[in-house]
Amino acid sequence: MKIPTQLAAGAALCGLLLGGCQTTSSNSGKMSLAVSPYGTTKSGTPVSLYRLKNKNGMEVDITNYGALVTSIKVPDRDGKIEDVTLGYDNLAGWEKGTSYFGAIVGRYGNRIAKGKFTLDGKEYQLPINNGPNSLHGGKIGFNQKVWKAEPITEGGHVGVRLTYVSKDGEQGYPGNLTTVVTYTLDNKNDLGIDYKLTTDAPTVANVTNHTYFNLAGEGKGTILNHDLKINGSKYTPTDSTLIPTGEIATVEGTPMDFRKSTAIGARVNDKFKALEFGGGYDHNYVLDGSGFRKVVEVYEPTSGRVMEVSTTEPGVQFYCGNFLDNEKGKNGHVYPYRGGFCLETQHFPDSPNQPNFPTTVIRPGETYTSKTVYHFSTR
Ligand code: GLA
Repeated sequence: MKIPTQLAAGAALCGLLLGGCQTTSSNSGKMSLAVSPYGTTKSGTPVSLYRLKNKNGMEVDITNYGALVTSIKVPDRDGKIEDVTLGYDNLAGWEKGTSYFGAIVGRYGNRIAKGKFTLDGKEYQLPINNGPNSLHGGKIGFNQKVWKAEPITEGGHVGVRLTYVSKDGEQGYPGNLTTVVTYTLDNKNDLGIDYKLTTDAPTVANVTNHTYFNLAGEGKGTILNHDLKINGSKYTPTDSTLIPTGEIATVEGTPMDFRKSTAIGARVNDKFKALEFGGGYDHNYVLDGSGFRKVVEVYEPTSGRVMEVSTTEPGVQFYCGNFLDNEKGKNGHVYPYRGGFCLETQHFPDSPNQPNFPTTVIRPGETYTSKTVYHFSTR
């Protein structure tokens, strides 16, 4: 599908019009990109909201604060459009929140044991913010930064390209790291997230998206009835602080096995060490295959909504909202324990300390790229 030039020109204009704008194209079906002000951070920086819409009524909102996905609206099997992501009503909510709703997490998404790692013979100490460990980039992660934003329309989609330069030494990590995250929406109901990372000194990085989904609609109870299929025959068992032991274990014969579609709630309370440590599912799956491939499918039976996840990443953290505890969210809704789930496509937790895991080291001159697509449909 080719985007006509008037759409590209219109989108360039979008970047200039703070009040928002619409662009449409005739032969690729209606797609639009609107930009509007989204308030000012506590420290006084204005941020914007980017609304991507496609011809099916699917709508994705993204802000350059935290490179957050603030909402994903998709039709159910009767065409009813609802927001399927947990979050807050406004910027102040996102700034206060501690659950990483919708966020891009980094520089290192997931945990690093005791916040320590050694690279090229030098030891680095990161902030400890999760038990004895460092989680999601430390005390002030990428989810709390204002990113540079650029609306885009090339290649049959609408989108926004977000850039953040993390300074050498920020949260204890070496190297000036440039992270470019590009969100795109097309008429096939694909929400794409492309990652591109470069550095000027050797460093480690693991950047991912931490959106919480409830395919029945945000605020509609727990996610335990969702059927989940993960193409992962193995997972990385952890200690009680959720740091991998280094073992790559089979899911066969355990409640971790989602190779056949199974309700999330069917075995979540089983007596099984990994589930006890996680307080439910909070685990890295080693995904089967390599390259860009479909790895997960989720189906919510009351709405008929289906979400498929494809990625180039070797792993996915499946987290079923075990730390949610009646958090106040959007539209006056309260999110209960297990009221949302995340599928964080990623490299494995604590990789900098685990020589047998795929490397998360990036060196000058290298470009690390990664791609994840969330595809929505109904059944
Ligand atoms: C990740 C972790 C969880 C939890 C959430 C945020 O998914 O694996 O343990 O910390 O982030 O609440």
